[in-house]
Amino acid sequence: MVNKKQKIIIGNWKMNPLSVKKAEFIFQKIRKGLSFYLKKADPQGKIVICPPFVYLANFKKIKERTKNKKNILEIGAQDVFWEKEGAFTGEISSAMLKDLGCQYIIIGHSERRNYLQETNQMINRKLKHSLKEKLIPILCIGEKKEERKQGLTEKVLAEEIKAAFNGISKEEIKRVYVAYEPIWAIGSGKACNKEEVERVYFFLQKIFNKMYGSRFFQERIKFLYGGSISKENIKNYLDSQILDGFLVGGASLDPENFLSIIRETIFNF
Ligand code: PGA
Repeated sequence: MVNKKQKIIIGNWKMNPLSVKKAEFIFQKIRKGLSFYLKKADPQGKIVICPPFVYLANFKKIKERTKNKKNILEIGAQDVFWEKEGAFTGEISSAMLKDLGCQYIIIGHSERRNYLQETNQMINRKLKHSLKEKLIPILCIGEKKEERKQGLTEKVLAEEIKAAFNGISKEEIKRVYVAYEPIWAIGSGKACNKEEVERVYFFLQKIFNKMYGSRFFQERIKFLYGGSISKENIKNYLDSQILDGFLVGGASLDPENFLSIIRETIFNF
C-alpha cells in the first residue's frame, strides 16, 4: 500500500551545473541544510538528487565520508540504457549506476522525448530494464501546450502510459513512480494548479485499473507532480491527498529554494 504521508522530492539537475566544484558546492549546501532540519524535526519522506552522470562518483564519495543514521538523501540518475553491457557507445548501464549508489532513475523525461527523439518504445524498454534490475523508475509523462489547448491531454497521457507499460505484468511492477509533468509547465514559471493535477490523477487511476485491476493504481503506483515547483508555490499542493511528492527541476539547483521546498513538504515546520 502506498503511504501518502511519506513524500519524496526528486531534484532533477538536468545538464547543470558546469563543473564538479559547483556541483559539490550545491550538494554540500543541501546536505548541511538537511542535517540542520534533522535536528529540529522528524522527516516524513526522502530526497533524491539526480545530477548529471559525471558527478555521481563524487557524490557517492561525499556520502560515504559522512554517513549518518538518518539517511534521507539518495542519489539518482536522469537516464539509463536498456542493455546491461556491451558495445553501446555513449550509453550508461544500470550496473554502473548501481555501483555508484543510484537506486532511482528518471525515465522518459519530456526533454529526452523532444530533443533526443526518445520514443515510447524506447521508454518501455528502459522501464522494463529498470524493473528487472531492481531500480526505482520515475516515469515522466505530460502533454504539450498545444495538445492541452486542443483537449488532447487525456489522449496523450493514455498513450504514453499504455506504451510505457506494454508487456509489463502486474507482478513486475514494484515501486514505480509516475510523474505528471505537463510540458507547458516545465521551466515556464507557470505550474499546473492542484485541481488540474488531481484530475489527471483520477484519469490515470482509470487507465491503470483497467490495465491491471481495481485499486492497482492507488495501491501500487506512486504519483508525483513536476513543473515549475518552487518555494513560492509548494504550499498550494501540500494539502493534496493524492500526491506522493514532487519532481523539481530549476529550483533544485538553488539550495535555498530547494531546502524551503523540502522543509515545507517533508519536515512540516
Ligand atoms: P522545472 O523542471 O521544475 O524547472 O519546471 C521540472 C522537470 O523538468 O523535471
